[in-house]
This record gives sequence, C-alpha cells and structure tokens, in this order.
Amino acid sequence: MSGHIPVPERVKFDSENLIQSMDDWQRIHAHSIAEPDDFWLNITRKSIVWDIEPSIGLEGGFDTIEQESFKWFSDGRLNATVSCVDQHLKNRPDKVAILWEGDEPGVVRRITYRQLHAQVCRFSNALQSRGVTSGDRVIIYMGMVPEAAIAMLACARIGAIHSVVFGGFSAESVADRIIDSGSKVVITMDEGKRAGRTIPLKKTTDEAIAIAGGIDTVIVYQHTANPVEWNDERDLWWHEIIENESGEHEAVIVEAEHPLFILYTSGSTGKPKGQVHSHGGYITYTAFTHRTVFDLREDDVFACVADVGWITGHSYIVYGPLANGATTFMFESTPLYPDAGRYWDMVERHGFTIFYTAPTAIRALAAKGDDYVHKYDRSSLRVLGTVGEPINPEAWEWYHRVVGEEKCTIVDTWWQTETGGICISPIAPATPVIGGSATLPLPGIQPELYNAEGELLKGKAEGLLCLSQSWPGQTRTIYGDHDRYLQTYFSTIKNRYFTGDGCRRDEHGYYWITGRVDDVINVSGHRMGTAEFEAILVESEMIAEAGVVGFPHDIKGQGVRAFLVLAKEVSDEESLYLSLNQLCRNRIGAHAKIDRFCIIPALPKTRSGKVMRRILRKVAEGEPEKMGDISTLADPDVVEAIIDSNCHYV
Ligand code: WTA
Repeated sequence: MSGHIPVPERVKFDSENLIQSMDDWQRIHAHSIAEPDDFWLNITRKSIVWDIEPSIGLEGGFDTIEQESFKWFSDGRLNATVSCVDQHLKNRPDKVAILWEGDEPGVVRRITYRQLHAQVCRFSNALQSRGVTSGDRVIIYMGMVPEAAIAMLACARIGAIHSVVFGGFSAESVADRIIDSGSKVVITMDEGKRAGRTIPLKKTTDEAIAIAGGIDTVIVYQHTANPVEWNDERDLWWHEIIENESGEHEAVIVEAEHPLFILYTSGSTGKPKGQVHSHGGYITYTAFTHRTVFDLREDDVFACVADVGWITGHSYIVYGPLANGATTFMFESTPLYPDAGRYWDMVERHGFTIFYTAPTAIRALAAKGDDYVHKYDRSSLRVLGTVGEPINPEAWEWYHRVVGEEKCTIVDTWWQTETGGICISPIAPATPVIGGSATLPLPGIQPELYNAEGELLKGKAEGLLCLSQSWPGQTRTIYGDHDRYLQTYFSTIKNRYFTGDGCRRDEHGYYWITGRVDDVINVSGHRMGTAEFEAILVESEMIAEAGVVGFPHDIKGQGVRAFLVLAKEVSDEESLYLSLNQLCRNRIGAHAKIDRFCIIPALPKTRSGKVMRRILRKVAEGEPEKMGDISTLADPDVVEAIIDSNCHYV
C-alpha cells in the first residue's frame, strides 16, 4: 500500500498483543462481527473480575431499539472498581498505579496499587457514612489531582453514579448538571492550579449551588490551602472525613447494566446530554481497547494528557489503564507551561512509553519549533496516540518525524463520549498507518457509510458514519430522556447508530473522518453545540437573531464564528463583542469563546422560516461557492450580504 508506513521494529518487538498482524486483524475482526457474544464473553471473562460471570452477551440490539434498549452481560454481577483496584493487590501491589505531576515541573506523587486501594476504600467508607448509597448521583468538580480519580472510583465502588464536570465549566454549567442529574452531593477542591494560576473551584461550586439548590453535602479536597468560604451546615473537608475510616471496604456488587457514570456532552440541539455508561460493558470495552490499541506491556508508563472531565480522561486515564494494572499518568498543567518543552521533559524524566494527546496540542507545539523537542531524550517512547479531532497531515508528520523520530507508530483513535472507548484506530503492533486516517475498525465495530438519502454505500465512498451493531462500551441512554437518545442516534438511519460524523473510506478500506456533519463544533477537541451559543447570544437585548458555526482554525482545529442580526443600532461594536463573550464564559465556561463576529442584515431562511445553516457554514469555511441550492431561500439576496459582511476578530 503506497504511502502507508509499516509498523516500526521498536513497536513490534516482543508484542504479546491479541492482534499482531493484519492477518490477525482480519480473522479476529471477522469473528467478532459474526459472533459478538462469543467474542465479548470470552474477553470479559478473561480480563474482568466478575462476582457472577455473565452467560449472556448482547440482549436486544439496534433492530429492536425502539421497543427496548439493548443490554450487555445482563445476568452478570460485578463492581467495575474490583477490576481496577482489588484485582491488583495480589500481583502488583507495589506497582505505581497513578503517577501524578503537578502544575510546577518536578512536583510528583506516586500512588501504588496498595495505596490506591486503601485510599479508595477510605473514601468509599466516608461517602457511605454520609448516607450516599447505590444509585445516588454525585457531581465531581475538581482539577487534575489523584483525588479526582479516587473520588470517581469511590463513588463507583458504592454503586453511586458519578458525574464529573470539567473544571473549566462555569457555575451555571455546573448548576445545570446538578439539576439534570438530581445530585445531592458535590465533591470539589479549594482551588485548582493551571499554568501558574489558581482556579477557584470551591467558589464556583458555591455559586452553582446558589443557582441549583438541592445539594446537602459538599466535600472539599484541600490542594492549595488558600482560604475559602465555608458553610458549616454543608461543607466537609476531605481529609477530616477520611481520618477515622477504614482502609478496607467491600465493593457493592451491582448488575452489569447498573450505571457507572453520567458524563454530559454537547449535542446539536438544546442542553448538554447526560450520557449514561454501565459497569459491565464499559469496563470490558475500555480495558480491552486500551491494552489492544496501545499494545500495553507490564512495564509501560502510560501517559494520556487529557483531563478527567472529558471522556478521554475517564476511559484512558482512569478506568481502562487501572483495569489493566497499568501505571497511568495524571497531569495538572498544560503543554506550554513553563514552556513548549514540558511534555518532552516529562517523557525524559518519567520514561513514558505511550503518549496520548490531541491534535490541537500537537499543532500548538509544532508551531513553537523543533528545538523544544530535541532538547530531551524521548527514546522510551513506543506508541504515540491522538484523539478528539481530525489530525491534519502536517501535524501528523511532525508528530511522527520530530517527536517519534520515525521509530514510534501513531494511533489516530476515533471515538466519542457515546462510544465509551476507541472504535476506529490502528492497533499499534499490527496496522500500517497513514497520516490523517484512523485506519480500521476494532473488533466488534462495524462501520457503515450512508448518503443523505439514507442509502448504504459500498467500497470506496464518502458519507455519514454509522455503526451497524452494538458494542459493550456504548452509552445506554441519555439520563432522564430516553426518547432524545433514540431521536439523536437512531432516527437518521433506521436501526443504525449515527455518529454525527462524516467519513470517507478509501480503496484499502481505511476510514478518514472528515468531521462533524451536524451542528456540533469541535474547538481544541472540546465539543460544543452551536445552539448553546445561539441561545446565549439572543439573551442580549442588542441581538435579534444569531447563527453560530465553526470555521477552520490553524491551531484549534475549529474556531467559532457568530453571525449576528442586531436588534438596535450599536455605537461601540468592540465592547458589545467583549460583553457577549463574557456572557458565553459565564454561561458555559472558560473554553467557550467566539473568535469572529459578523453583523448581517438577516439570517438565511427558507420560506417556512427554517434557518439554512449550510449557507453560514460554507461562508465560514471560506467556500461560499459550495453552498449548493439556495432557491428555497425566502430572500436569496441575503446571501450576498452574508458573504460581504464585515467581520471582527476578537
Ligand atoms: C471527533 C472524544 C477525527 C469526532 C473522544 C467525534 C475525531 C467527536 C477523532 C467526539 C479522530 C474524535 N479523528 N475526529 N481520531 N476522535 N473525533 O465526545 O467528531 O469529546 O464525533 O469524544 O470528536 O468528541 P468527544
């Protein structure tokens, strides 16, 4: 296959992976699709600790999704944390489970599996002592400290359902999630740290509770020890409540389908959706994909530099690596602090063997030049990974050539919050790679491409990416709104899971993700709904209507562009834009910023009043000639005005 890069020797050497060659992939993938029950029951029985082993694989499926939701391993009973923690007390008690580096370089903590077990048990006991029980929802709003992972595991251990809220979210976003999940408990910390700054997590929690109500307990981990406001009726220090608790705790055994966590993610309409993952299926899938894709070895130091507030952190910092008994890295800081050499400095100091990051970070670092990379010894690296957005060929080349010196393989992993784990990706020791392609489906995953008319496309083609059968890591529902789940994922193409992504399949059967085809924008790998922005903008009395779309951005992948129809004459545009961005920041969070504002006379609407977003999107993408048929517009002249509109960068 021309242009494809074979797997380097360093990656293949001594692999014990289930899949080590393309022949293995062919055989195992075909078997997993033909006999998914047999395949997954085998995998889960071998790798996951069950209290009662399941005898059933998949129950129900996409064909009957409208009548009843599917289940995996439904007659099995377990607690996912037994696989993550207890299981390793026998074989690797003194192995480092969590390796943490703080905001300042060299500030390091190492927590062994024995210590992790004791700390998770202690905190589980503390939660139970405060009346938290199986099925309760608990919000975790913390920065990147090991206690965030401990809090997640402790909730899961007692059968409670955690919902981690990314530390960059605003009080209003936290409040929305408290209300939607019906949580009574929040676990937070005094302050987070990031790039030399502090993040007032406790203060924001207080503000969120003032909006949402309903919270009777706030547990606060002390990190910076700066003073915080205190409410004696409600607030408890983490270190005080664990003081007298035992380091032993018997995990609460639940059914395989018992919810493990809720994680909110943006969709194309309305409020963020609470994606519900389950104990049995999720832990099986994340453990399997983690060890298979990255070709995990016992002495690996696995570094995923995501945040636990997103799905990547859940699946590949916490659950997958710990279930596999890996040493998993947690990072409090940013790739540019104190300078652009931070990642490579840590590779040298900690000996990372597998390094997993987002294309945004790669582009930002590549722009700073190669010297920051060359300064440090990176010979420990074997596998480099990317996730979260399409990677452009230049960034891929740089990662491959400069960071990996052509001795590492790159796994470009495609997946989503909804899929729980990686679905389309190279398998490190097996798959020849090519920059920009996520390559081939993992076992159990059957991608299909459809055209806009809903027809299945065969062979080389481009279309809507669907998955045709269920896999264990899939979300089961949207919390409190199963109809929305069916509507969002199973109505575009009947009886198929629709991903929201566009995709091309080449002559070798390799998949190339082209990006979202719905109204989700992906800024630096952070998913945001255009509707969320629009709802906020029109709250301003200055704005009559707003249309928000993504546009290509050199570093962030996508930037945010807002088309505004004014309600009144504006004297000072600059300050209007600043105030609108402040509003987005307050409502969503620090990561929600509009980069470009354009004032237009009217939104492009059909005669029935529906906004033709395609027109805005094509203008923003700099391809107005590709906007297609505009004959159904009520006022076709508006298109010219939109193309010619004055734009303001902020
Ligand atoms: C995008 C992140 C191209 C995609 C794990 C998907 C990707 C969305 C890739 C999910 C990739 C993720 N190549 N695009 N390797 N990985 N995406 O839920 O548009 O935060 O639908 O999950 O990110 O984002 P989410």
